[in-house]
Amino acid sequence: MRTKAIINEKIRKFNKEIIVPGDKSLSIRFVLLASVAIGKSVAYNILRSQDVLSSLNAIKKLGIKYNLNKKNCEIYGKGLDGFNFKNNTKIDAGNSGTLSRLIFGLLINSKNSIILKGDKSLSQRDFLRVIKPMKMFGQNIKSKNNKLPIKIKGTNFSRPINYNELKGSAQIKSCILLAAMKTAGETKIKCIPSRDHTEKLFKYLKLPIKIKKEKKFENITLKGKKNYKGFKYVVPGDISSSAFFIALTVLSKNSKILIKNVNVNNSRTGIIDILKKMNANIYLQNKRTYNGEKIADIFVRSSNKLKPINCPVKMNSRSIDEFLIVFLICSVANGISKFRKIDELRSKETDRLKFASNFLKKIGIKTKVNKNAFKIYGNPNIKLNNTYEIKNFDKDHRACMMSIIAALTLGGKWIIHDTDSIKTSFPNFLKILKNLGAKIN
Ligand code: S3P
Repeated sequence: MRTKAIINEKIRKFNKEIIVPGDKSLSIRFVLLASVAIGKSVAYNILRSQDVLSSLNAIKKLGIKYNLNKKNCEIYGKGLDGFNFKNNTKIDAGNSGTLSRLIFGLLINSKNSIILKGDKSLSQRDFLRVIKPMKMFGQNIKSKNNKLPIKIKGTNFSRPINYNELKGSAQIKSCILLAAMKTAGETKIKCIPSRDHTEKLFKYLKLPIKIKKEKKFENITLKGKKNYKGFKYVVPGDISSSAFFIALTVLSKNSKILIKNVNVNNSRTGIIDILKKMNANIYLQNKRTYNGEKIADIFVRSSNKLKPINCPVKMNSRSIDEFLIVFLICSVANGISKFRKIDELRSKETDRLKFASNFLKKIGIKTKVNKNAFKIYGNPNIKLNNTYEIKNFDKDHRACMMSIIAALTLGGKWIIHDTDSIKTSFPNFLKILKNLGAKIN
């Protein structure tokens, strides 16, 4: 189905409280961890997006029952060795990088083969990053050029590994941790810090995980083969979804927003630190902790004197999914913003560096891009009067939502294609925008 949004005017000033849906990373992790718990697990406020539905479908294919109803999501796990499926069972991960990478870990000792496939965008993405450590555990993997579709068969004798994870990727780290959880002995990972939801969930489940922080690295050790019981979890709001509303407010005139109950895990809040450095008005209120995860309400006011940023590399993993929206904000800052070592953006749902430089060029913002660095020459006086058509972004949900925020804050007339991509992570995005007063056809 072809879907598009037509936007012909900026959003008027607003002052509202909103709730964004449950965090995608935590929702997928809940599904996968509950599938190997013993007995019933229940999640409240789980994200009901395509990536999470793909995850539920995946565990169903592995022989695990679930019940997603209005109130909650129940999963009936059968323990670490409880999967039961026929040889060559097909699993479709759809658009989900997280599901498709993490599931390798869960299949470390499966007796039968799985054929893992995905949509067009996921089929262009690299899987060597997980194939390499999984082969060290002993998993049997067959693929063409390390891309989907991939045939995965477990091993009877998975062996613990020592691994250096130097991309700062939570998907690689979590895939290894899930394999380690099902492997006797102690697995060790030395890694560049990245989102640590899996580690926090392991601690919540009382799994024997140890984390030692050094200056630039973390050393994680996990002893495998400890079963755990079904558990309850309340999924907090997603900061990556909130980011679009933070940007909307920062870039709109005389507006305020309060985003309630958002996960503000330190490994995810790069966007807040970056925007604060740029002089934006963002405040965390009502801070609290739930099962190891920090939660807060995020209050944002319009900002009119935005400074450019020389983005510290340590922000890269902490704001990995928010760069598109950060780039948009930099385009109206007063000066040149600089980003380094951000080539991981080229491996997302689309090549986000290429998308961003083409997008900013289209709206008259000068950029300099090379393999892993980006410079944006901001223009605080930008005024758009033309018609802008945004298409061919490999249905990247975040590219689509960023384009909609640009259309609602910078002026001009916009046709934005493939809005169905948004259902990957944020199905009620347009509805919330319309409640704030946005006119979108
Ligand atoms: C995710 C990790 C990140 C992020 C993705 C979700 C996760 O990917 O971009 O949207 O839930 O672990 P990388 O691990 O490739 O950085």
